[in-house]
Amino acid sequence: MPKSITISQATRYQNAALNYYLGLTDSPFLHYGYWEPLPKSIEELTITRLRTAQQAYADKLLSFIPVDTKNILDVGCGTGGNAGFLLSKGFSVEGLAPDPFQQERFLKYTKGQAAFHLSEFQNFKGTTKYDLILLSESSQYIQASDIANCSSALLNSGGYLLIADMMRSDSSYQDGIFSNCHVVKDLHNTLLEAGFTLVRDEDISTQAAPTIDLAVENFRRFGLSTFTYIADLIAIAVPPLHKILGWAYKKWLQKLVVEGLDTPNIFKQSLCYQIQLWQLAKH
Ligand SMILES: C[S@@+](CC[C@H](N)C(=O)[O-])C[C@H]1O[C@@H](n2cnc3c(N)ncnc32)[C@H](O)[C@@H]1O
Repeated sequence: MPKSITISQATRYQNAALNYYLGLTDSPFLHYGYWEPLPKSIEELTITRLRTAQQAYADKLLSFIPVDTKNILDVGCGTGGNAGFLLSKGFSVEGLAPDPFQQERFLKYTKGQAAFHLSEFQNFKGTTKYDLILLSESSQYIQASDIANCSSALLNSGGYLLIADMMRSDSSYQDGIFSNCHVVKDLHNTLLEAGFTLVRDEDISTQAAPTIDLAVENFRRFGLSTFTYIADLIAIAVPPLHKILGWAYKKWLQKLVVEGLDTPNIFKQSLCYQIQLWQLAKH
């Protein structure tokens, strides 16, 4: 039975969303994937193709890992997709995430070959030093200063930090569902100040974008129509409740739904998806 820790309310919301996503995809990966070739039509936006894209993304991450790397700390490891893949490539891997549900799935998926640390990165008191710390789509949940300080404390001299995530290319995008993503320039400056050097980076926005289109398409087709159907049933069976729910929808949900449907445009205008390999100074 996993031990319990105190988890912030924001992280509990994130965990709920991740669990919902897992229920929909049943994928061992929790990232956007790398669509190559790009889908030619909406019909090609399927969960099966998403899984192929997610494996291609893991291959892409692997191509960024320096040859002399032996042990890896997978921060925000999710349910173990990346860790399982890296284990199969001969690395020694440990996972870390602040969610007992992910802990259970991670240990099962990696068949006990990888240790798991139930913790937020900023509160992790590790004793091992690592050759590489991986943040695959988890940097957006952790402050830049915590990424820099915790990584430099846990890395061997000259060790590497591999970050792959959605980021804000437009710093004026301040208020919205992706406003927790790092501003590219700010993250860059924080890591430079902490003694890291950028070794290699690649923008994979184009290859990540189809996952946003897939999510919006499914939300429009299944999410909204199911929602409307339930609302219609309530309007027939319990009209006063329908009125209250209609009011609550307008007050709390409508803005989120409109923003959710506009995600592809928000992504194009204000966000990007980058993979960055950083090296800590040798001491
Ligand atoms: C979108 S998932 C990515 C999972 C996995 N790395 C992947 O690429 O499939 C984000 C992960 O970050 C974790 N996370 C959220 N806040 C965190 C924190 N403060 N410290 C460490 N991990 C965190 C979540 O629990 C989850 O495992």
